[in-house]
Amino acid sequence: MLLLNASGCLDAIAAPDVASSLDAYVTKTITLEPRSGNGPIRIAETDHGMLNAIGLANPGREHFLSTTLPQLRALDVPLWVSVGGFTAREYADTCARLEDVTIELNLSCPNVDEAPESAAEIVAACREVSQSALYAKVSPHSWDMGETVRAVEAAGADGLSMINTVRGAALDANLSPVLARGAGGYSGPALKPVALAAVLAARRATSLPIVAMGGVCNGRDVLELIACGATHVAVGTLLFSDPDAPARLRKELALATEHAGFARPEDAFAHALDSVANTVN
Ligand SMILES: Cc1cc2nc3c(=O)[nH]c(=O)nc-3n(C[C@H](O)[C@H](O)[C@H](O)COP(=O)(O)O)c2cc1C
Repeated sequence: MLLLNASGCLDAIAAPDVASSLDAYVTKTITLEPRSGNGPIRIAETDHGMLNAIGLANPGREHFLSTTLPQLRALDVPLWVSVGGFTAREYADTCARLEDVTIELNLSCPNVDEAPESAAEIVAACREVSQSALYAKVSPHSWDMGETVRAVEAAGADGLSMINTVRGAALDANLSPVLARGAGGYSGPALKPVALAAVLAARRATSLPIVAMGGVCNGRDVLELIACGATHVAVGTLLFSDPDAPARLRKELALATEHAGFARPEDAFAHALDSVANTVN
């Protein structure tokens, strides 16, 4: 199992030690053109998680390739580049320019208008031009996770990432939305049950590797995602309040595994699968 950061939740150049404490570093999503993102207010805390409507702010592909990527390579940690776009062609053009990295296709940002093509069409366009490992980060809003997963697998995805944030809103004292955009992406502890269900549904549909994320706060959360079928686990919102979390999560995972009576975290998967085999839709 690899422990990664969730895209957008760690700036490796500002915090290289945190990035080095991970098994691989995932960049914030890059797009063809530079984007300043949505206007303020674009982050809000809520009782059980965080709302963000950043809107894929990033310096754009050319700046990423010429400046950011060489700096990231110098960190000597395996790199995953998160690629976004507004058409399948844009995604594919960026993938064609990337080598020696794993690519995570962000097919699920709730803070920008979606590309007109389906997730599978985008994966197929990228597969045609890229030899890199392609992970499809699919939306938790999908009504039929099994169908989505089978479609992106058939289109050539090498793995899956899930879940992105779910859409949420918060109101201020005057009952107006806190975020300028009205709604944003909700992340943090409240997401764990959504993530567990998404991973279970995806695992029932495929044997592709799955990077699972959503609400990870401790080692037991990591073990639960593995029990549902995750191959790797990523930590997101927690890194803002606890950048040293990766080392703690590894220690806690070992303890949680032992406490649950398993020799290895992966052994929890077979156990959970037996107990839910006929109960999950
Ligand atoms: C501030 C912020 C920025 C994010 N930016 C991205 C992004 O650029 N690309 C992406 O695929 N996901 C992005 N995400 C979603 C996370 O990668 C992750 O899927 C989600 O937050 C669930 O994990 P968590 O509950 O551990 O945070 C962002 C999340 C947050 C909180």
